[in-house]
Amino acid sequence: METSSPFSRPPQAAAPSRLAKLTSLLPARMRERVDPYLEALELLAEIRSPQVLRSLGPSGLRGLLLKRGKQGVPTQILAHHRAHFDWGYPEDQPEMHDLFVRAKQGQWDGDSLPWHISVDPENPEVPLLPRDFLAMDLLKEWGYALNPKEERLMIHSVVSWMLSQFLHGEQGALFAAAQVTEAVQFFDGKLYGSTQVMDEGRHVEVFSRYLDSKLGKLYHINDNLFVIIDALMSDGRWDMKFLGMQIMVEGLALGAFGTLYRLTSEPLLRELLRMVILDEARHVHYGVLALREHITKQLSQKEREEREDWAFEVALLMRNRFMAYEVYDEWFAGRMPRATWRMFIDRSPSMREFRHVMFNRLMPNLREIGLLSDRIRPRYAQAGLLHYSEGAAANQLTAKDVIRDLNTPLVLPN
Ligand SMILES: [Fe+2]
Ligand SMILES: [Fe+2]
Repeated sequence: METSSPFSRPPQAAAPSRLAKLTSLLPARMRERVDPYLEALELLAEIRSPQVLRSLGPSGLRGLLLKRGKQGVPTQILAHHRAHFDWGYPEDQPEMHDLFVRAKQGQWDGDSLPWHISVDPENPEVPLLPRDFLAMDLLKEWGYALNPKEERLMIHSVVSWMLSQFLHGEQGALFAAAQVTEAVQFFDGKLYGSTQVMDEGRHVEVFSRYLDSKLGKLYHINDNLFVIIDALMSDGRWDMKFLGMQIMVEGLALGAFGTLYRLTSEPLLRELLRMVILDEARHVHYGVLALREHITKQLSQKEREEREDWAFEVALLMRNRFMAYEVYDEWFAGRMPRATWRMFIDRSPSMREFRHVMFNRLMPNLREIGLLSDRIRPRYAQAGLLHYSEGAAANQLTAKDVIRDLNTPLVLPN
C-alpha cells in the first residue's frame, strides 16, 4: 500500500494535452483569451461515461462557458426533487436519531465567537497563513518576484478567495440540506436534517461576517464549484444531491478547513474553523449513513454504477481544477500566462496538502457507501488515489479523532 506524503513526490508539470499543443501555435494574446474555454472543453471531453456527461454537461456549459456564477445577478436553478411525506412518523433509523440528539446538543451561536479580536492581514506578527503556503520562491525564479508587503497582500487575497469559496459552498450546503430534508425517505433522517439546515445557516453567517468585517473582500464563486453546485441542485434525485454535497463537497471542505486551521495563526479564524469542522464531521457522518443504506440496499446495479462514475468524475474535477483564477485575474492577468499560473498553484505545498487531506477523508467514505467496487478501483489507482481508501470512514470517526487530527502540527516544506 502506498502511504507516502504528497510532499515526497517531486513536482511534475502535466503532459501537454492535444488542445494545449494546438493552442501553442496561436499568438500569445489569443492563446490567453481562448485558454479558459479550451480548458472547459478539455474537462468535459475527459468524462467517459455518457450518463455522467448528461448530468454534468449542462452544468459545465452554464458554469464554465456561460459563467453564470459571475454575472452579478441572482442565479435561479430549478431543483426538480419530490418532497416525501410520512404521516406515520416512524422511528426508522436509530443511528440517525442518535446523530439528531448529538446535533441538538452541539448547537452553538455564531455571535459567541471572539469577534472582538482585530484582524490585520498585513501584520507579519500574526500571519493569516505562512509565506510558504504558496510557492513564492518559484514566482521569483520565473521573474514575477513580489516584495514582502506584496507577498502578504497576496496571502490576504488567497485567504479571502478560499473563505469566499467556503461561503459559496455553505450557501449550496444550506439549500441542499433543506432539499434533502424534504426528499429523503428516512424519518429520523428528516429530523436530523433539520439540525443540519440550522448548522449550514450558521456557517453562512460566520464566514460571511468574517469576510465582511475582518478581511474586507469577497470573491465570485469559482466556475468549477459552480458546476458542482449547479449539477446537484438541478438533479431531482435526492441521493445525487446528497452524494454531491454531503460526501464530495463536504469532503473537500473538511480537507480545506482542516488544513487552514492547522496553518493559520489568526486566533478568531482558528476558533471559527474549529467550531465549523465539528459540525461538518456530523454532516459527513449522516451522509455516509443515509447513502450506505440507499446505495447498497435500494439501487439497481446500473444505478449504482452511474453514481460510482459520477463520484469518480467529480473527484477528478476537485483534484485538478481549483486553480484560483479569480486571484490570478487580480494579480497577474495580462503579464503571466495562465498555464504558468496553473503550474504555480500545482506546485504550491498547500495544494498538495489539501489534496492529501481531502482524499484521505473522501475515499474511505466512498468505500463505505458502496461506490468503490472492483469495477472502478483501477481508475482510482490510475489517478493515484486508491491508496487513500483504506482509512476510517466518517461513521467510524469520533469528534475526539477529528480534534486530535486538527491538533497535529502541520509543517509545509520550503
Ligand atoms: Fe457547512
Ligand atoms: Fe455541512
